Amino acid sequence: MLLEAKNVNKGFRNQSILKGIDLSVDTGEAAVILGPSGAGKTTLLRCLNFLETPDEGELIFNGKTYRMNRMSRKEIREYRLQTAFVFQSFNLFLNKTSLQNVTEGLIIARGMDKTTAEKKGMDALERVGLASHRDYYPHQLSGGQQQRVAIARALAADPKIIFFDEPTSALDPELTYEVLSVMRSLADDGMTMLIVTHEIEFARTVSNRIIFMENGVVVESGLTKDVFTHPQKVRTAEFLKIESGDRF
Ligand SMILES: Nc1ncnc2c1ncn2[C@@H]1O[C@H](COP(=O)(O)OP(=O)(O)OP(=O)(O)O)[C@@H](O)[C@H]1O
Ligand SMILES: [Mg+2]
Repeated sequence: MLLEAKNVNKGFRNQSILKGIDLSVDTGEAAVILGPSGAGKTTLLRCLNFLETPDEGELIFNGKTYRMNRMSRKEIREYRLQTAFVFQSFNLFLNKTSLQNVTEGLIIARGMDKTTAEKKGMDALERVGLASHRDYYPHQLSGGQQQRVAIARALAADPKIIFFDEPTSALDPELTYEVLSVMRSLADDGMTMLIVTHEIEFARTVSNRIIFMENGVVVESGLTKDVFTHPQKVRTAEFLKIESGDRF
């Protein structure tokens, strides 16, 4: 396994939000986290990149074990250099071009020289179909294009895994399609991804692992084909049925 999280717990104030989450993602897998609103999906992803500090939990990443509630700055930095995050709201610098958004982290956080960073940045923009938009600012791009720039930024860092939190939920259907197509091509290329999404068809056809969460626990996880064809829990079956649009 590339990433294994064990017994992740997180509360806000006195409320327990993640209650002993276990999950694993293998190299080359596209794993999807499904679950109703409020299940704790975003909180889990944020804990997995230490945007939130978990109360408890163990993370084994690329063979190294981390105590999730006691990470040193150095450990977080070392881990973040190997991971990338794509947010629902893109999080681009509005005063920087597509290429500058993609190269910024390479130059600042990784100390890469500008020429090498721009070469890598252009490769990444090419991969999401936006090489011709290198000099555009975010306000000159559609939401789908902005999200593709954000994906290029993630790719340029050569991460071992990319975390996605509902990358298309801020987008209209036709723009959703272009972003999901890019993600599908990354999955085909063997990019390791952990994706929170409500796009059930995408989950069914692109992912190879499903993690179904509700109320801060993993209700069921398994290979996509098994979970979709033979869910082990009644609750999983109900959720998949409703999310697939089969409400009646
Ligand atoms: N910073 C915070 N402070 C207090 N409570 C929080 C905080 N962040 C999340 N929560 C609570 O944790 C619970 C889970 O939220 P989370 O955003 O992880 O759910 P989610 O599964 O991502 O939902 P959605 O599908 O709507 O995005 C919610 O009840 C939310 O109110
Ligand atoms: Mg969320």
